[in-house]
Amino acid sequence: MRDIVYVDGSFVPRTEARVSVEDRGFVFGDGVYEVLRVINGRLFATRFHNARLKRSLEGVRISLGGSDSPERFVEIGKQLLKENGLLQGEATLYMQVTRGTATRAHNFPSPDVQPTVYISAVRFTPYADLAKTGAPAISHPDLRWARCDLKTLNLLPNVLASQTAKERGAFEAMLVRDGVVTEGTKTNFFGVVDGTLRTHPSDNHILPGITRSVLRDLAREVNIDLNETPIRSDEIPRLSELFLTGTTTDVMPVVRLDDKLVGKGAPGELTRKLQKVLADSLASGGD
Ligand code: PDD
Repeated sequence: MRDIVYVDGSFVPRTEARVSVEDRGFVFGDGVYEVLRVINGRLFATRFHNARLKRSLEGVRISLGGSDSPERFVEIGKQLLKENGLLQGEATLYMQVTRGTATRAHNFPSPDVQPTVYISAVRFTPYADLAKTGAPAISHPDLRWARCDLKTLNLLPNVLASQTAKERGAFEAMLVRDGVVTEGTKTNFFGVVDGTLRTHPSDNHILPGITRSVLRDLAREVNIDLNETPIRSDEIPRLSELFLTGTTTDVMPVVRLDDKLVGKGAPGELTRKLQKVLADSLASGGD
């Protein structure tokens, strides 16, 4: 099977794709990214991803050059899906923009350099079995910066927490900052406390997840009220349901947290309902 990626303006085999050692993404993690879900060649929630990419670029003050735009990256992504035989079944598109290549200096290159654009399409397998049984998670200190709303390449705290989760046999680490559960290392989350569905409000401490906002709209359509009030860690013992959301996670029930059962230790009723509405929305193509 061909495996072509797009880097720095060219379509090249993945094994031949190169960026400079002076690329600011490599040296500083100075860049932003997006991950999109693709089902049978149809991209899910493209407009939302494009809007978030624009917002992240503006947030870190990277200007795209010439005719580049998130919309153009989507077209390139579609080309990659075609070239790589990914128009059937599940896939993801990864898009990354760094501030470009320049001799190492913390401040921005002057004069401006062209940002480096990397786009890749890969086969994806959803976590179908875990989605039925539910997954274990751990809580972990949220050691990230104060602009978690930007989807930047600076993922070291996420990487470390995710690895700790893996070493403890857990699927995800739920990050806790100032006594509040913010989000997972690659997911947002929703929980049911005293019968009310809650999720962290969209602010600078979480990524405004596309799955989170799609699900918020879907919940409204099926008359499920959602309260955007953070869940405090001292409320964790009162959670009757808990689930994660993300482009590569869908709705993933969490049935154990720090080795204690969540609710009855099985995916709850609201979780299953929302799992289904999201699955239906994904199957019908999103947008
Ligand atoms: N991560 N929170 C964080 C910190 C994330 O990195 C992600 C996504 C989410 C969920 O957002 P969305 O619903 O838009 O996927 C929440 C992607 C999938 C990743 O880094 O691979």
